[in-house]
Amino acid sequence: MDPATPQPVLTPLTKSAIFLVYTVRPGGEDQVRDVLGEFTGYVRTVASRAPQGRVTGVVGIGSAAWDRLFAGPRPSKLHPFPPLQGAVHSAPSTPGDLLFHLRADSMDLCFELATVLAGKLAGAVELQDETHGFRYFDARDVIGFVDGTENPGVNEIADSAIVDPAAEPAELAGGSYATVQKYTHDMDAWNGVSVEEQERAIGRHKWDNVEMEDGVKPDNSHSSITTIEDEDGVQRKILRDNMPFGRPGSGEFGTYFISYASDIDVTEEMLRNMFIGRPPGQHDRLLDFSTAHTGGNFFAPSLDFLDGLPPAPGAGDQGTTTAAASARAEEDPGAEPGAEPSGSEAACLPDGCLGIGSLKGQPQRRP
Ligand code: HEM
Repeated sequence: MDPATPQPVLTPLTKSAIFLVYTVRPGGEDQVRDVLGEFTGYVRTVASRAPQGRVTGVVGIGSAAWDRLFAGPRPSKLHPFPPLQGAVHSAPSTPGDLLFHLRADSMDLCFELATVLAGKLAGAVELQDETHGFRYFDARDVIGFVDGTENPGVNEIADSAIVDPAAEPAELAGGSYATVQKYTHDMDAWNGVSVEEQERAIGRHKWDNVEMEDGVKPDNSHSSITTIEDEDGVQRKILRDNMPFGRPGSGEFGTYFISYASDIDVTEEMLRNMFIGRPPGQHDRLLDFSTAHTGGNFFAPSLDFLDGLPPAPGAGDQGTTTAAASARAEEDPGAEPGAEPSGSEAACLPDGCLGIGSLKGQPQRRP
């Protein structure tokens, strides 16, 4: 059997992104299922209008919504974001049934895709959060540090971000656990400490991004506290695609945190280290300047899953395809079941896939 094709979670960081988090209204489930079935088509529609624009879209589904939308199977580790209360800082869990992570190299393309989606979802959902993120200089966050450096390299990225097929029901192979949190920074407090103090909070030097030496880097620095290992001493990684956002005129300066993980336990261990502390009581120094306002967990299923959704709850075993998949079968009757949607080639260029991604030929992320 061909391996399932993930949604484009592994694509390199773009210059722009829009994050949309919705809840599904009671009775909105059928409309949402139709949108899920058409989602890759919407992405292709926008991507094909700007072939160089690196348009991609990923949709994730929250724990409660999963059971309202599908009769099964269920991702083994999908659960609501667990709120965290440390001695000093807390991470809230906030409502979210659907996450859309829309990326492109210019905001107009993200905007266009978000507009199409919002129109298709109208009436069925309630918006919980919309954040427009941008690349800030050399991929810095608004507190001035390069963000994303220690992301998994090209050889480990899929193992870090895409579920182990042995750990999930076959239909969920190629999926990924996504976690999001929206942070704002107290820039007066941050700029009120020396650059050396900021560097000790992050664990890297600010200007040249070089990591601080062992023995110099504090144990409560952000990079120390988020470095975790398994019982064999192998580092466990997640894929982060954080984006700055903000409104300087309103004093808002933020980081939208998004991670993709093969195992959500990894992300949650990092979060416990940050908020509860490692050891408990020794929290992440970055949190003295940064406040989490939202928290959500989602599962981003494979393209194959979206292409042939499982039945809706109560729908019996029939109807395993959406209207979109049926239409595609009519367009391309020769297509193998589970094959990549026809027309996807139109969204791919030699330097990488646009609109949809594939493990094969994933463009290499920035070093
Ligand atoms: C206010 C929000 C956040 C900001 C501004 C931020 C910023 C940064 C920066 C500047 C680095 C160093 C460069 C790099 O390797 O990327 C970093 C590293 C890292 N961050 Fe964050 N981060 C935030 C939240 C989080 C959260 C919530 C997690 C995990 C749940 C996380 C996990 C990591 C990991 C795993 C590393 C790499 C550690 C290493 O291997 O050295 N970050 N972050």
